This record gives sequence, C-alpha cells and structure tokens, in this order.
Amino acid sequence: MLTRYQDAKWALQSPAQFSSATGVEIEKRTKHMPQDTRASFDICYRFWYTAIQATDAPRHADQRKPLMKAFTPALIAEMQGAISQRVERLLDNLQQTGTADFVAQFAYPLPSLVIFDLLGLPAEHHQTIREAAAAIVKFPTAALRSDSSQVAQIAVCLKQAEVVLKELILQRRAVPTADLISTLANQGDAGSRLSDDEIVVLCNFLLTAGHETTANLLAGSMRHLLSERRLWNQLREQPELLGNAIEELLRFISPVLWVSRVMTEDVELDGHVLRKGSRVQVGTGAANHDPSEFKDPETLNLTRSKPHSLAFGYGSHFCIGATLAKLETQIALSGLLRRTPDITLESKTFDYHPVHFLRALKTLQVSI
Ligand code: HEM
Repeated sequence: MLTRYQDAKWALQSPAQFSSATGVEIEKRTKHMPQDTRASFDICYRFWYTAIQATDAPRHADQRKPLMKAFTPALIAEMQGAISQRVERLLDNLQQTGTADFVAQFAYPLPSLVIFDLLGLPAEHHQTIREAAAAIVKFPTAALRSDSSQVAQIAVCLKQAEVVLKELILQRRAVPTADLISTLANQGDAGSRLSDDEIVVLCNFLLTAGHETTANLLAGSMRHLLSERRLWNQLREQPELLGNAIEELLRFISPVLWVSRVMTEDVELDGHVLRKGSRVQVGTGAANHDPSEFKDPETLNLTRSKPHSLAFGYGSHFCIGATLAKLETQIALSGLLRRTPDITLESKTFDYHPVHFLRALKTLQVSI
C-alpha cells in the first residue's frame, strides 16, 4: 500500500512497472472456477477487466484515443444547459420536501442523469444501465470469493445492458444524433475505431466511473460545508471562491480512495522490494492528506493556494471525466447556494458504505 503523495504519484506515472491490467491476477486466482459458472464469469470479466481503466499500452491508448476524440471540451461545454436543467428540477423537488435525504434525492440521481444525457440514452433504458453499472463493481470481490451465484446475478444485469446498448449503437449509426454513442458509433478512421463490443463496455464503464464518484463528491461536499457552517457562509458571501473550493473539496474528500496496480517487475522502494506480480494499492485518498505535501492536510481550507491532488489520478489513466465532474459540481453547488441558502444538516452521525475504494455516504439528512 503506497500512501505517501510522492510514492503514489510515482506509481501512477510509471505504468511500465505499475500495470493497470489487474484482471490477469483475478484470472489466475479463479482458474479453477466450475465450468457452469464460466460463461457468467466471462461476460463480467469482459465488462470490467477489458474496460479502459484495466488496460495497459498499447491497448489502453487504442481505447483512450477515440474516447478523448469524442469527449471534447466543446461537448462538455454544450452539456452546461442540460446539467443546469437537471439541477433546477432536482432543486424544485428538494424545496418541496422540507426535509430530505440529500444523497438519495440529489447527489445520487444527478450524475447518472448527466451521463445518460451525455450518452444520449433514452429514459426507458436508464434503469437497465444503472443496474448493470451498480452490479459490475461487485464483480472483483465476488470473483475472488468464488461466489458463483453473485457472479451469475451480475451477468444477468450485464446481458440486459448489452442488448440495450447494441441496439442503440445500430440506431445511432443509421440516424446519428448529437451524443457520445453517436460519435463513438460513427468514428470514421478504421484504424482507431472501437468495435461495438468495446463501445458497449465503455458506455457501461462511463456510468460506473462517473456516477458514484461524482455523487460522493457532491454528498461529501455538503456534509463538510454544512458541518462547518462558516464554510457554507464563506461560499455564499464569495461565490467566486467556488472553483478553488471544489479543488480543495476533491483533495479533502477524495471520492476514490484507492486505485489498483500490479507490479510487472521487482522495484525497490526505501529498502523494500515490490515483487513482480504482487498487487499494489495506490492510496490516492491517503496521499491527498500527506502532511509532507499539504500544509494542515486535515483542514478543509477553501482558499488554499494552488490546491492540487491525486483525486482524479495522475498520468496516462488520468480521469477523462474530470472537467465534466467539476462542471457538474460547480453548477450543483451554485444552485444549492442560490436556492437553498438556509439548508441545514440534520444528520449527526455519518455512515459510509463498506466499499474500500470509495468514500460513499449512505445518507445525509438535511432540512431546507
Ligand atoms: C468526482 C468525480 C470523479 C472522480 C473522483 C474520478 C476519479 C478517477 C480516478 C482516480 C481515475 C484513475 C483510475 C486509475 O488510475 O486507475 C479515473 C479514471 C477514469 N474516469 Fe473518473 N472520476 C470522476 C468522474 C468521472 C466522470 C464524470 C467520468 C465520465 C463520465 C469519468 C470517467 C473516467 C474514465 C473513463 C477513466 C479511465 C481513464 C483511463 O483509464 O485512461 N470519471 N477517475
């Protein structure tokens, strides 16, 4: 486990030694899986371990290039209107309730709706893709525990998502619209085009990657800003601080606490050897609180000068959705500050989901 900022950053920028292909290890540890579970295992494996975040060069570049081409700053900027509409509607609902669970009624729905808008996914398919994205994150643990019934359940969700997404790819190839599925389905350059199977895995992964992470940032931000009321008031009085504040909230909350790598060779670090083939957990969350990198790391300081962090990773796998996540958080927090200035925190204790790599609040009770 690498927990110092400089070590974590070094690992993330050294993909030749710190491989992202963590599926190799899972495959080895599950090779004795019963034959009847194999088909379910294979579809799960394809959805998680052939997705962009679990690949190395040159396959990683083959996947990242077309996605970067599609995920342009112009596309993100165009999303602004759609995000604002989603935020205003969720705020209408919040204001009507008086008291609410901020996680269930705002933080959780917003990022998935934004990604569905980005993909161009019709509302009737939202639930299918939501279930598949929620199911797939359980796969690594289920596989390592040889929990074949859970692997089978996950596979059912993925097969349903696959049918929906493949149909949409065909439709958008026939009649393109202004969305990410259309762009990916119609990329002209045969050399760098993704196959339909790859587009399906990617679309499903975008929801997994961008949903809970952004939800955790939104919920965590409200927890901390409202717990220390002076911080909320500071943003109300100086909304121009919001951009800086979001960078600091990303550092402080670290919605993704760990990312995984596998050693491709023996590497020495301070007299310890990280052995070839061993799994390394890169502690982005711990690194973001390293006192040798950040002055007073346990203080949420909205005016911290040049706030930076490893919240979105570093190097070749740096988060593709970072600009979108920040835009979304900016629009959401601006809306909350403007429309619910007197919102208060009702929760006195804070329970988190027992998922080791995500900082995910279960609920956050507020009154408006
Ligand atoms: C606050 C919200 C978010 C956080 C904290 C976050 C964090 C991260 C981190 C730490 C990585 C690096 C993983 C690694 O090195 O193994 C990553 C990669 C990625 N993220 Fe995000 N993410 C967020 C939002 C999003 C959104 C909204 C999207 C897209 C809709 C997205 C798409 C991706 C993709 C596709 C990758 C893989 C990039 C690659 O492997 O080349 N993320 N994210």
